[in-house]
Amino acid sequence: MLLIAYRTVKLFNAEKHEFDRYRTAVSNYQNTEYYSSLRGIVLNTVQSTILMTGLLCTCFIAAYQVSTVQQPVGLFVTLLMYMAQLQGPLGYFGSFYVSIQSTLINAERILELFRERSTVVDSSLAMALATCKGEIRFQNVGFFYDERKLILNGLTFTCKPGTTTALVGESGAGKSTIFQILYRFYNPVNGSVYVDERDVRDLTGDSVRRHIGMVPQDSTLFNESLMYNLKYANQSATDEEVYRACRAAGIHDKIMAFPDGYNSKVGDLGLRLSGGEKQRVAIACAILKDSRIILLDEATSALDTDSETHIQRSLKSLSRDRTILVIAHRLSTITAADCILVLHEGRVVERGTHTELLELNGRYTRMWQNQTRESAEPGSQESDGC
Ligand SMILES: Nc1ncnc2c1ncn2[C@@H]1O[C@H](COP(=O)(O)OP(=O)(O)OP(=O)(O)O)[C@@H](O)[C@H]1O
Ligand SMILES: [Mg+2]
Repeated sequence: MLLIAYRTVKLFNAEKHEFDRYRTAVSNYQNTEYYSSLRGIVLNTVQSTILMTGLLCTCFIAAYQVSTVQQPVGLFVTLLMYMAQLQGPLGYFGSFYVSIQSTLINAERILELFRERSTVVDSSLAMALATCKGEIRFQNVGFFYDERKLILNGLTFTCKPGTTTALVGESGAGKSTIFQILYRFYNPVNGSVYVDERDVRDLTGDSVRRHIGMVPQDSTLFNESLMYNLKYANQSATDEEVYRACRAAGIHDKIMAFPDGYNSKVGDLGLRLSGGEKQRVAIACAILKDSRIILLDEATSALDTDSETHIQRSLKSLSRDRTILVIAHRLSTITAADCILVLHEGRVVERGTHTELLELNGRYTRMWQNQTRESAEPGSQESDGC
């Protein structure tokens, strides 16, 4: 993790702090290793001493019996051979004890992983959602991650098939959480979520996710080639389909300009791609998945205006017959949505089209005015210095 976050370390000149932390960790490890080795050595010494003492005593008794002609010499030789044969397996017990200890520790760690319970478990009566028209309904949904802090509170809205719904609201309002619930990473604490008028709790999570494509707020990629990451969304896609999706996401030419093209490695979590490139790869993945419902969580926030316009156009053509839910802070990107939901304190406080919301002269209007004023203010685009 530290290696991935090396930029943060450099950013805050925290090399010394991290070096000290690492040195302490290494020194703790060395101490533990030292005591573990010492225990092994003591164990071996004690075991060998017991064995040797046993062997010596037996030899003395046998030698005495041979010298007093109580036993024949042959029996003494036989005894020595048996003792030599026994020594190996007995010595093995010592190392066996050490290896069984470390195996038990590893097994305990794996068991801890097995004990991790999924936050959403399909009920035994859950059915698969075979086909999907794309209707979504949140009915009085309440949700919290920690019961001390309510995130959603009586959230109610409906998205008709083929429409685009935008979610706006302050940071931390719970917009991404709505997507997580829809994607079945969590179940609502109160109320219900319906897809095609079927409660998602009565459907298998896997089948619901099959019909939903998502561009997450912070997409992560596997440290494999771009082609591998793109085909991850749809493993049966042909190369030509991947190129088409990348063209729609405005990333094809960029990828072709990379020295290794589609075979370029993206680095850990996609570290070798720029924020905008990663977003466009995620959009291409969503296009490739070709699902009925598409969730876009700040999907174009890292893009320049030209790329954003290009992608908005592609998404518009993609949105035909699909239900799109889009989260955006930049309100200019969602003015054409069929319905805009303004979230505040876990519930929808305003809803309507862009024009209807402006007429309401409420929270949305204030957000819109703030954003338009910011972009219109002289000096907001250019600094005085250049
Ligand atoms: N996995 C989690 N565990 C605990 N709390 C979480 C978790 N994910 C989000 N939260 C909390 O839930 C609240 C809503 O988070 P969410 O990501 O839905 O906000 P958001 O509206 O998408 O914000 P933003 O516009 O900044 O992306 C935040 O206060 C956040 O701290
Ligand atoms: Mg979010």
